[in-house]
Amino acid sequence: MIRPLTTSVLLNHVARRQISHFITTPIFYVNSAPHLGHLHTLILADALNRHHKLKADDDDECIFSTGTDEHGIKIQIAAQTNNLTCKELCDRNSLLFSNLVKINNTTVSDFIRTTDEKHTNVVRKVWAELDAKGYMYKKQYSGWYSNSDECFVPDIQTTKQVIDGKEVRLDSSGNTLTWSEEDNYMFRLSAVQDDILRWLKEKKPVVPEKFNDDAIQMLEGNLDSDISVSRPVKRLSWAVGVPSDLEQSIYVWLDALCNYLTVAGYDTGSLRRWPIDCQVIGKDILKFHAIYWPAFLSALSLPLPKKLICHSHWLVDSIKMSKSKGNVVDPNKEIDVLSREGMRYYLLRASTTHSDNDYARSTAIARINAELADTYGNLLTRASGFKINPDQIMPSRWSGSIESSQAIELIERLSQLANTCDKHYESADFYKGIDEIMAALRLINVIFTEQQPWSLVKRRDSDEDSKIRHSDVLALTFETLRICSILLQPVIPDLTNTALSKMNVNQRKFSDAIYSLTKNGSPIDDNRLQSSKTEALFQKVKC
Ligand code: MSP
Repeated sequence: MIRPLTTSVLLNHVARRQISHFITTPIFYVNSAPHLGHLHTLILADALNRHHKLKADDDDECIFSTGTDEHGIKIQIAAQTNNLTCKELCDRNSLLFSNLVKINNTTVSDFIRTTDEKHTNVVRKVWAELDAKGYMYKKQYSGWYSNSDECFVPDIQTTKQVIDGKEVRLDSSGNTLTWSEEDNYMFRLSAVQDDILRWLKEKKPVVPEKFNDDAIQMLEGNLDSDISVSRPVKRLSWAVGVPSDLEQSIYVWLDALCNYLTVAGYDTGSLRRWPIDCQVIGKDILKFHAIYWPAFLSALSLPLPKKLICHSHWLVDSIKMSKSKGNVVDPNKEIDVLSREGMRYYLLRASTTHSDNDYARSTAIARINAELADTYGNLLTRASGFKINPDQIMPSRWSGSIESSQAIELIERLSQLANTCDKHYESADFYKGIDEIMAALRLINVIFTEQQPWSLVKRRDSDEDSKIRHSDVLALTFETLRICSILLQPVIPDLTNTALSKMNVNQRKFSDAIYSLTKNGSPIDDNRLQSSKTEALFQKVKC
């Protein structure tokens, strides 16, 4: 029977390196090439990691892991269809994902493959520990299995349909199911379900909360049932074998979830950092991460993740992207058209975690042209041009000569912006943070146009008022651009780097994004623009 929970020995050995944060993405199936949904998960996690780094000390190290999920029936079938061995298919497609990680210049620190020996050792070790603690038992198991989702589907969630004169069973997404009747090892989920329920109810780890509620509902709707964690080798050969039973393979989800432990160094007996601070997942894999994963951890006596960020899906014409429906968007093609930064911006700008969003290239182009090229980039180009700014300076004082309501509102907004963005970014609501930033940038654009610095500059030598106002427009414009650029770093890291360098801004931490124009600043404190030629920050994308 189950041994009492003890604090894992591993925790006594948590490494003493300065690792301040551990963030993960799910690992991607290698049965096909990456699509836009995969890139979305990756970019969302990257933006969260970058945000964390901007708040952490410079010498803090963060773990940001991603990788590929390479075992399972799905992979076996895809390899057969492609006339490749499983290993060949995995190598080929895993490379596509690692290229996606590189091409997008992400801050990923660890790329893991579940076929790596280091990982398979961890899976076997985890199995042996769960078994030794009494969590595994063998049982005749029967049910409808989804190869596509790699899980058994409860009877009530299936529907019958006649296709080509044959009756078939389908799951809620329309995937065909296969009937399985076999010996399986079961994991005593029922023994830890109360721990998980308490964790979900008290800590509310899943963000947004509606997904936390969904997880509670899933668990409460399935109390006292255990889960199958192995399959006969004759059905599933491309998998890690059960250590003490040559006839059984370890269930791919148990295998895949262990990737987070492999990254943490479970094989070495000393965890680099634990628990995980933040796990990004799509809503389709909520059950596995909010129920199965904490159940395995609880059984291993390891602390549960602090936060699970659960996002919704990108649809095309209101249908979820999938290969079988032929509506998959290739991220590399989109990047070729929109540019890497444009693509990233749009994914974070236009998606909401709580609801699905429709992807259309034309909408993406309109959005990035309006916001990145016009509202943001064009303002920097104009304010740094020699016609408007012949001295190439960014004044450090604000004399208050522009008394418009917009200027008052803008200064108010700038004083709050870092706090507001922090709150939204922490819950992965990047669109809300960007919305606030764009509102500030639109306000300064209005002020800039109304004040006409191109006219003020011509009068400033003969008219003191024009001189002060010219200086004030530039001061407020560059202060807005500085604060917005610092806060946009997790979203568009390359563009903001160029903009901040142009403005000679070296202090780029999140805490530097505070409004700092002063009434009494002296011209000696004025900063100078970098002397390089001013080119458009973001070239408009042509349709
Ligand atoms: N291999 C499992 C995860 C195991 S983690 C221990 C898996 N892989 S996946 O390739 O199917 O999905 C990886 C991620 O991409 C998931 O977070 C999933 O939600 C996300 N997306 C897949 N399609 C998506 C969209 N259409 N839109 C947004 N993200 C989606 O599940």
